Amino acid sequence: MAHAIYVFDGYGTLFDVHAAVRRHADEVGPEGQLLSALWRAKQLEYSWMLTMMGRYRDFWVLTEEALDYAFERVPEANRASRAALLDAYWTCDVHTDVPEVLKQLKLRGAKIVILSNGTPKMLDAACRSAGIDDVVDEIISVDEIKVYKPDPRVYDLVTTRFRCFPEAVSFQSSNRWDAAGATAFGFRSVWVNRNGLPEEYHDFRPAAVLPSLEGLLALG
Ligand code: LAC
Repeated sequence: MAHAIYVFDGYGTLFDVHAAVRRHADEVGPEGQLLSALWRAKQLEYSWMLTMMGRYRDFWVLTEEALDYAFERVPEANRASRAALLDAYWTCDVHTDVPEVLKQLKLRGAKIVILSNGTPKMLDAACRSAGIDDVVDEIISVDEIKVYKPDPRVYDLVTTRFRCFPEAVSFQSSNRWDAAGATAFGFRSVWVNRNGLPEEYHDFRPAAVLPSLEGLLALG
């Protein structure tokens, strides 16, 4: 097998970040989609800002703050759903292609790794609730170094942990900016373009673009 180490981004790639609002759609009320999109966008913006400022607060705190901001921006959404939405983040749904693809890669002898902005607690809980904890060999959280993606120090956590060159790693992310960071670092990056979004970050192209993780098995 060309790539012995398969590293997956967490939120958006394995875990469905919009599942929380979908699960509680009735309680959230109108504008749930807008709330969910803003929640995610702000969570990421805060992570980039902190790293650029040389500061850190963990991803759970950012997730809470981003939701509070999203509620301010979307007054139509029902704030009483706050606790339920945050709770759902601990038991995120996985995208339907995830369990089988991870299992097949593992059967081929690959190491299955998660590299995520999430805290170790968030990632452990999400993996357990999704039932993928037995197939995942290693969960690496940015919390170890208190720097967020796409800082190269984050991707370097993988090469340091496994004492390998970046080329030995196949990195999968549905977040185009994260795939760009991985390409810049030297990983083979695979953009899982789940939402059919246009290409961007042209200087940092992924090695492959797939509509879901399923195509990964054919890529080798
Ligand atoms: C993560 C972010 C990108 O899981 O959602 O690292």
